[in-house]
Amino acid sequence: MTQKGLFLTFEGIDGSGKSTQARRLADVLCAQGREVVLTREPGGSPGAEEIRRLVLEGNPDRWSAETEILLFTAARRDHLERTIQPALEAGKVVICDRFADSTRMYQGLSRGELRPVVDQLHTLMIGREPDLTLLIDMDPDTGLSRAKGRQGTEERFEDFGPDLQHRMRAGFLALAEEFLDRFRIIDGNRDVDSVAADVTDIVMQTLR
Ligand code: ADP
Ligand code: TYD
Repeated sequence: MTQKGLFLTFEGIDGSGKSTQARRLADVLCAQGREVVLTREPGGSPGAEEIRRLVLEGNPDRWSAETEILLFTAARRDHLERTIQPALEAGKVVICDRFADSTRMYQGLSRGELRPVVDQLHTLMIGREPDLTLLIDMDPDTGLSRAKGRQGTEERFEDFGPDLQHRMRAGFLALAEEFLDRFRIIDGNRDVDSVAADVTDIVMQTLR
Protein backbone atom coordinates (compact mmCIF):
# COMPACT_ATOMS: atom_id res chain seq x y z
CA MET A 1 0.00 0.00 0.00
CA THR A 2 1.30 3.45 -0.82
CA GLN A 3 0.32 6.02 1.72
CA LYS A 4 -0.67 9.43 0.42
CA GLY A 5 -1.96 11.03 3.61
CA LEU A 6 -0.23 12.22 6.76
CA PHE A 7 -0.62 10.63 10.17
CA LEU A 8 -0.22 13.07 13.09
CA THR A 9 -0.61 12.24 16.76
CA PHE A 10 -0.82 14.29 19.94
CA GLU A 11 0.64 12.84 23.12
CA GLY A 12 1.16 14.03 26.66
CA ILE A 13 -0.14 13.66 30.18
CA ASP A 14 -3.79 14.09 31.10
CA GLY A 15 -4.85 17.72 30.95
CA SER A 16 -1.90 18.86 28.82
CA GLY A 17 -4.19 20.30 26.16
CA LYS A 18 -4.03 17.57 23.51
CA SER A 19 -7.73 17.56 22.65
CA THR A 20 -7.86 21.36 22.55
CA GLN A 21 -4.84 21.54 20.23
CA ALA A 22 -5.99 18.66 18.03
CA ARG A 23 -9.27 20.48 17.40
CA ARG A 24 -7.50 23.76 16.70
CA LEU A 25 -5.13 22.11 14.25
CA ALA A 26 -8.01 20.38 12.47
CA ASP A 27 -9.73 23.76 12.06
CA VAL A 28 -6.56 25.35 10.64
CA LEU A 29 -5.99 22.55 8.13
CA CYS A 30 -9.66 22.43 7.10
CA ALA A 31 -9.58 26.17 6.50
CA GLN A 32 -6.67 25.55 4.11
CA GLY A 33 -8.92 23.19 2.17
CA ARG A 34 -7.28 19.97 3.32
CA GLU A 35 -9.25 16.84 4.07
CA VAL A 36 -8.84 16.10 7.75
CA VAL A 37 -9.95 13.25 9.98
CA LEU A 38 -9.87 14.19 13.66
CA THR A 39 -9.94 11.12 15.84
CA ARG A 40 -8.91 9.79 19.24
CA GLU A 41 -7.81 6.79 21.25
CA PRO A 42 -8.99 4.72 22.85
CA GLY A 43 -11.82 4.91 20.32
CA GLY A 44 -12.13 6.45 16.89
CA SER A 45 -14.26 3.70 15.31
CA PRO A 46 -17.57 2.23 16.53
CA GLY A 47 -15.97 -0.97 17.84
CA ALA A 48 -13.07 0.87 19.46
CA GLU A 49 -15.47 3.31 21.14
CA GLU A 50 -17.19 0.29 22.71
CA ILE A 51 -13.84 -0.87 24.06
CA ARG A 52 -13.19 2.68 25.31
CA ARG A 53 -16.22 2.43 27.55
CA LEU A 54 -14.98 -0.87 28.91
CA VAL A 55 -11.47 0.34 29.74
CA LEU A 56 -12.23 3.83 31.02
CA GLU A 57 -15.37 3.18 33.06
CA GLY A 58 -16.14 0.77 35.87
CA ASN A 59 -13.82 -1.04 38.25
CA PRO A 60 -10.35 -1.08 36.65
CA ASP A 61 -9.28 -4.10 38.70
CA ARG A 62 -11.57 -6.38 36.75
CA TRP A 63 -8.69 -6.85 34.22
CA SER A 64 -5.08 -7.79 34.79
CA ALA A 65 -2.43 -5.44 33.42
CA GLU A 66 -1.84 -7.85 30.52
CA THR A 67 -5.55 -8.05 29.65
CA GLU A 68 -5.68 -4.27 29.67
CA ILE A 69 -2.87 -4.13 27.10
CA LEU A 70 -4.83 -6.54 24.90
CA LEU A 71 -7.95 -4.38 25.16
CA PHE A 72 -6.15 -1.15 24.23
CA THR A 73 -4.41 -2.94 21.37
CA ALA A 74 -7.68 -4.47 20.15
CA ALA A 75 -9.24 -1.01 20.11
CA ARG A 76 -6.24 0.33 18.18
CA ARG A 77 -6.36 -2.46 15.61
CA ASP A 78 -10.02 -1.73 14.88
CA HIS A 79 -9.38 2.01 14.73
CA LEU A 80 -6.47 1.48 12.34
CA GLU A 81 -8.42 -0.86 10.04
CA ARG A 82 -11.64 1.08 9.93
CA THR A 83 -10.68 4.72 10.31
CA ILE A 84 -6.97 5.52 10.04
CA GLN A 85 -5.78 3.39 7.11
CA PRO A 86 -8.72 4.20 4.81
CA ALA A 87 -8.25 7.92 5.47
CA LEU A 88 -4.50 7.78 4.79
CA GLU A 89 -5.06 5.80 1.61
CA ALA A 90 -7.50 8.51 0.50
CA GLY A 91 -4.77 11.11 1.04
CA LYS A 92 -6.27 12.73 4.13
CA VAL A 93 -4.52 14.20 7.14
CA VAL A 94 -5.31 12.07 10.19
CA ILE A 95 -5.01 13.86 13.53
CA CYS A 96 -5.20 11.42 16.40
CA ASP A 97 -5.50 12.38 20.07
CA ARG A 98 -3.20 9.71 21.62
CA PHE A 99 -1.95 6.53 19.94
CA ALA A 100 0.51 3.72 20.69
CA ASP A 101 2.89 5.96 22.66
CA SER A 102 0.15 6.28 25.30
CA THR A 103 0.05 2.49 25.67
CA ARG A 104 3.85 2.41 25.90
CA MET A 105 3.53 4.86 28.79
CA TYR A 106 0.34 4.01 30.68
CA GLN A 107 0.21 0.24 30.23
CA GLY A 108 3.98 -0.06 29.86
CA LEU A 109 4.87 1.75 33.07
CA SER A 110 1.94 2.14 35.44
CA ARG A 111 1.28 -1.45 36.58
CA GLY A 112 4.75 -2.97 36.29
CA GLU A 113 7.50 -3.01 33.68
CA LEU A 114 5.37 -4.15 30.77
CA ARG A 115 6.84 -2.07 27.99
CA PRO A 116 8.33 -5.14 26.20
CA VAL A 117 4.88 -6.76 26.09
CA VAL A 118 3.34 -3.55 24.73
CA ASP A 119 6.02 -3.36 22.04
CA GLN A 120 5.71 -6.99 21.00
CA LEU A 121 1.97 -6.72 20.64
CA HIS A 122 2.37 -3.47 18.73
CA THR A 123 4.77 -5.11 16.25
CA LEU A 124 2.42 -8.04 15.78
CA MET A 125 -0.92 -6.26 15.54
CA ILE A 126 -0.35 -2.58 14.68
CA GLY A 127 3.04 -2.26 13.00
CA ARG A 128 2.67 1.41 12.31
CA GLU A 129 3.99 4.60 13.86
CA PRO A 130 2.74 8.12 13.19
CA ASP A 131 4.58 10.33 10.69
CA LEU A 132 4.77 13.07 13.31
CA THR A 133 4.04 13.09 17.06
CA LEU A 134 3.46 16.35 18.89
CA LEU A 135 4.27 15.92 22.56
CA ILE A 136 2.65 18.62 24.65
CA ASP A 137 4.94 18.77 27.64
CA MET A 138 3.73 20.42 30.81
CA ASP A 139 3.91 20.68 34.54
CA PRO A 140 2.20 17.51 35.87
CA ASP A 141 0.37 19.24 38.73
CA THR A 142 -1.15 21.87 36.45
CA GLY A 143 -2.15 19.11 34.04
CA LEU A 144 -3.83 17.17 36.80
CA SER A 145 -5.81 20.14 38.04
CA ARG A 146 -6.91 20.93 34.49
CA ALA A 147 -7.96 17.32 33.93
CA LYS A 148 -9.82 17.22 37.24
CA GLY A 149 -11.63 20.41 36.27
CA ARG A 150 -13.45 18.41 33.61
CA GLN A 151 -16.46 16.53 34.91
CA GLY A 152 -17.04 13.03 33.64
CA THR A 153 -17.14 9.32 34.24
CA GLU A 154 -13.80 8.59 32.53
CA GLU A 155 -11.42 8.97 35.39
CA ARG A 156 -9.55 5.73 35.17
CA PHE A 157 -6.01 7.02 34.79
CA GLU A 158 -6.44 10.47 36.25
CA ASP A 159 -7.37 8.62 39.45
CA PHE A 160 -3.79 7.44 39.85
CA GLY A 161 -2.94 10.97 40.97
CA PRO A 162 0.17 13.20 40.98
CA ASP A 163 2.80 10.46 41.26
CA LEU A 164 1.67 8.81 38.03
CA GLN A 165 1.44 12.19 36.26
CA HIS A 166 5.08 12.94 37.18
CA ARG A 167 6.26 9.52 36.00
CA MET A 168 4.28 9.82 32.79
CA ARG A 169 5.73 13.22 32.03
CA ALA A 170 9.29 11.91 32.44
CA GLY A 171 8.37 8.81 30.45
CA PHE A 172 7.01 10.83 27.52
CA LEU A 173 10.17 12.96 27.43
CA ALA A 174 12.27 9.79 27.35
CA LEU A 175 10.08 8.43 24.56
CA ALA A 176 10.73 11.60 22.54
CA GLU A 177 14.48 10.85 22.82
CA GLU A 178 13.89 7.28 21.75
CA PHE A 179 11.89 8.26 18.64
CA LEU A 180 13.76 11.45 17.82
CA ASP A 181 12.86 11.47 14.14
CA ARG A 182 9.10 11.70 14.60
CA PHE A 183 8.68 13.51 17.97
CA ARG A 184 8.48 17.26 18.47
CA ILE A 185 8.18 18.66 22.00
CA ILE A 186 5.93 21.67 22.58
CA ASP A 187 5.83 23.68 25.79
CA GLY A 188 2.23 23.37 27.00
CA ASN A 189 2.62 25.71 29.99
CA ARG A 190 1.37 28.65 27.96
CA ASP A 191 -1.92 30.05 26.73
CA VAL A 192 -3.85 28.09 24.11
CA ASP A 193 -2.97 30.48 21.24
CA SER A 194 0.79 30.33 21.85
CA VAL A 195 0.77 26.54 21.97
CA ALA A 196 -1.40 26.43 18.83
CA ALA A 197 1.02 28.70 16.96
CA ASP A 198 3.88 26.27 17.59
CA VAL A 199 1.73 23.31 16.59
CA THR A 200 0.79 24.99 13.31
CA ASP A 201 4.42 25.92 12.52
CA ILE A 202 5.67 22.39 13.06
CA VAL A 203 2.88 20.78 11.04
CA MET A 204 3.31 23.25 8.18
CA GLN A 205 7.03 22.40 7.99
CA THR A 206 6.13 18.72 7.78
CA LEU A 207 3.47 19.28 5.13
CA ARG A 208 5.97 21.21 2.99
P1 ADP B 1 -6.04 16.73 27.27
O1 ADP B 1 -6.79 16.32 26.04
O2 ADP B 1 -4.56 16.73 27.07
O3 ADP B 1 -6.43 15.99 28.49
P2 ADP B 1 -7.67 19.16 27.12
O4 ADP B 1 -7.42 19.75 25.78
O5 ADP B 1 -8.92 18.38 27.31
O6 ADP B 1 -6.39 18.26 27.54
O7 ADP B 1 -7.54 20.33 28.20
C1 ADP B 1 -7.82 20.09 29.58
C2 ADP B 1 -8.49 21.34 30.16
O8 ADP B 1 -7.57 22.43 30.14
C3 ADP B 1 -9.69 21.81 29.35
O9 ADP B 1 -10.65 22.31 30.23
C4 ADP B 1 -9.13 22.90 28.44
O10 ADP B 1 -10.09 23.87 28.12
C5 ADP B 1 -8.03 23.49 29.33
N1 ADP B 1 -6.85 23.95 28.54
C6 ADP B 1 -6.33 23.37 27.42
N2 ADP B 1 -5.23 24.05 27.00
C7 ADP B 1 -5.04 25.07 27.90
C8 ADP B 1 -4.05 26.11 28.02
N3 ADP B 1 -3.04 26.24 27.15
N4 ADP B 1 -4.16 26.94 29.06
C9 ADP B 1 -5.17 26.81 29.96
N5 ADP B 1 -6.14 25.86 29.90
C10 ADP B 1 -6.08 24.98 28.88
P1 TYD C 1 -7.95 10.76 26.97
O1 TYD C 1 -9.40 10.82 26.68
O2 TYD C 1 -7.01 11.22 25.93
O3 TYD C 1 -7.69 11.49 28.35
P2 TYD C 1 -7.14 12.94 28.63
O4 TYD C 1 -7.94 13.87 27.78
O5 TYD C 1 -7.37 13.09 30.07
O6 TYD C 1 -5.67 12.96 28.27
O7 TYD C 1 -7.53 9.28 27.35
C1 TYD C 1 -8.21 8.63 28.35
C2 TYD C 1 -7.28 7.89 29.27
O8 TYD C 1 -6.83 6.70 28.65
C3 TYD C 1 -6.05 8.66 29.67
O9 TYD C 1 -6.01 8.71 31.10
C4 TYD C 1 -4.91 7.83 29.17
C5 TYD C 1 -5.50 6.47 28.96
N1 TYD C 1 -4.89 5.67 27.87
C6 TYD C 1 -4.15 4.54 28.22
O10 TYD C 1 -3.98 4.23 29.37
N2 TYD C 1 -3.61 3.80 27.22
C7 TYD C 1 -3.76 4.10 25.90
O11 TYD C 1 -3.23 3.39 25.02
C8 TYD C 1 -4.52 5.27 25.56
C9 TYD C 1 -4.72 5.64 24.13
C10 TYD C 1 -5.08 6.03 26.58
